[in-house]
Amino acid sequence: WRTINSLHTFSEEEDLLRESVKRFAEDVVGPKVREMDENEMMDPSVINGLFEQGLMGIETNAEHGGAECSFTSAIIAIEELAKVDPSVSVLCDVHNTLVNTVTRKYGTAEQQERWLPQLAQSKLGSFCLSEPASGSDAFALQTRAIKDGSNWIINGSKMWVTNSYEAEVFLVFANIDPSKGYKGITCFLVTKDMGIQIAKKEQKLGIRASSTCMLNFDDLKVPAENVIGGEGLGYKIAIEILNEGRIGIAAQMLGLAQGAFNKAVPYTYERKQFGQAVGTFQGMAFQIAQAAIDLETVRLLTYNAARRKEEGRSFTKEAAMAKYWASVVAQRVSGQAIEWAGGVGFTRETGIEKYWRDSKIGAIYEGTSNIQLQTISKFIQKEYS
Ligand code: CAA
Repeated sequence: WRTINSLHTFSEEEDLLRESVKRFAEDVVGPKVREMDENEMMDPSVINGLFEQGLMGIETNAEHGGAECSFTSAIIAIEELAKVDPSVSVLCDVHNTLVNTVTRKYGTAEQQERWLPQLAQSKLGSFCLSEPASGSDAFALQTRAIKDGSNWIINGSKMWVTNSYEAEVFLVFANIDPSKGYKGITCFLVTKDMGIQIAKKEQKLGIRASSTCMLNFDDLKVPAENVIGGEGLGYKIAIEILNEGRIGIAAQMLGLAQGAFNKAVPYTYERKQFGQAVGTFQGMAFQIAQAAIDLETVRLLTYNAARRKEEGRSFTKEAAMAKYWASVVAQRVSGQAIEWAGGVGFTRETGIEKYWRDSKIGAIYEGTSNIQLQTISKFIQKEYS
């Protein structure tokens, strides 16, 4: 199961996609991973490569320039990219599962016609929800939009915006009527040239090649036709899309854990101490076996949530479970991988330590682990009371 597990059936198209993303990740992204991490900067050729490979409009229909593949295909691509670089994986994830999906699902026919081809072919997207004072409490956002003739004027700040340094399209959530509470939140499609200012590019522990910025909007003028999904419906759009997006993060954490495992385990069979391969000592062999079980549980949870969503069944609880557990396992397995490789794993040369640094974000973005537990517990309360 180095590549896929035996219990999930994938279509021929999905298997082919997995193979081609694996090749792209290993051949094109692989040689750049360390440099991008050390420079804390995504190589533009990697972003161009993702567009060229058709990985930036995975579910977008062919008529709009996309690959017209399944949701599971997007999950497969995110997993395969994360095995090599979780930063590239999240860039592709946010663009596809958040930005493209909002535009596809809630955009009018005209909006889809205009924006989907650009998003599939050349323009990177970002999703601007969190703010300095509203992270988990996302609907308490303070950014305001006021109508001015045929435009909206947006003022405020966003934080922790993934992809924002390179992005050209920004989905911005702002409140148009705070007296209505979260029912005033509205989604706006904003382009960089409308005047988005990058206030700060964060320096992070992990996923350092993935940009995370604070953005300021200072009397940003947005045409009224750029409202996505209707006034006051932004909160529903945000959370419904995050429910799906959380399966993407589970896939990122799954790929990350598998990538660390794939790097460290062969080394344990090469490295000899006391005349024996270290991976064959029971202490280590059992840890490796337990990590393999952990990986299998995450794989099953992730693809189960993906297929449920695809089949139109309820998936919010399953997505929260997958994201929560994938983040736990990613941290555990990548941490163990460092220990299995010993001193070599602790150096930057093998790249194993990077997986562990990158794993920490899994419990934070797209809803913290406590938010996932809260979501799961709400379902349990409903089912049992
Ligand atoms: N699915 C669908 N609807 C939901 C929902 C869910 N999981 N959780 C809440 N809602 C709806 C409720 O039904 C209610 O709507 P109605 O009034 O129409 O019935 C509304 O949301 C408010 O519900 P609550 O009062 O229960 O919710 P809350 O205000 O306490 O918290 C929440 C809601 C903000 C969505 C919170 O549960 C949450 O998920 N916080 C985390 C936010 C988050 O994920 N941020 C990620 C930022 S983007 C990012 O990280 C991307 C990136 O860069 C990688």
